[in-house]
Amino acid sequence: MTNVELGLPALPAPPYPEEVRARLAADAAELIGRYPQARSALLPLLHLVQAEEGFVSATGIRFCAEQLDLTTAEVTAVATFYTMYRRRPAGKYHVGVCTNTLCAVLGGDRIFEELQEHLGIRNNETTEDGTVSIEHIECNAACDYAPVVMVNWEFFDDQTPQSARKLVDDLRAGREVRPTRGARLCGFKETARILAGFPDERPGANDESGAGGAPSLAGLRLARGEALPGTPGTRVVSPRHEEPRHEEPRVEEPRHEEPRHEEPGQEGTEA
Ligand code: FES
Repeated sequence: MTNVELGLPALPAPPYPEEVRARLAADAAELIGRYPQARSALLPLLHLVQAEEGFVSATGIRFCAEQLDLTTAEVTAVATFYTMYRRRPAGKYHVGVCTNTLCAVLGGDRIFEELQEHLGIRNNETTEDGTVSIEHIECNAACDYAPVVMVNWEFFDDQTPQSARKLVDDLRAGREVRPTRGARLCGFKETARILAGFPDERPGANDESGAGGAPSLAGLRLARGEALPGTPGTRVVSPRHEEPRHEEPRVEEPRHEEPRHEEPGQEGTEA
């Protein structure tokens, strides 16, 4: 019989050691207290257990189920639906390469192939030193900067196979890398704790998030009737306070059609 790996956790899962369980239970109580119904805190709790182990383990699923009075099947269904919850341990830096349509045609596929070959690992695997894991990911809503790579969910825009290779080399060597926009990097587990809803304690990190860049706002500017830099006089819509230009309706000229040639005996055979 063929074994098919579904990535589902083996059960029954062991509990966390008591010290870990007590610490996480205190964090979980804080998160649960933010919601009218306890089960609404499931997504933050999954980030919380991911922050503990670098992925959502069977033990983590058991913990979430116990805190929220859910079954492990219910928690597993949610944890395996959302791709941000990992079923295998992530590296300290989890590198996601967008291979969705726009990024793929602009080089995302080549970037992902390059990283697999360069690091000697495949999709969802981690380097032996535990530093870098890679995953091909779907659209990150950053198509205006395609092809995009994310490290622990921070954006690295307009990548090439060469720049992505240098990026993972720098990460593995411990050299500082800065995202193109957004806050500076922290480890995957620290990122997961922030995503669970706990404050980002790094001084100044919240102010580094920044706003949308020019390519992101281009559509908005065009919709407002503004011209884009470098394209003076080019406007695709009128500003709201201007009357739209009156244009005579165009009358379509009937196209001249050649009489259809039919072979003898084929008259009236079309459906
Ligand atoms: S297709 Fe890559 S960010 Fe949208």
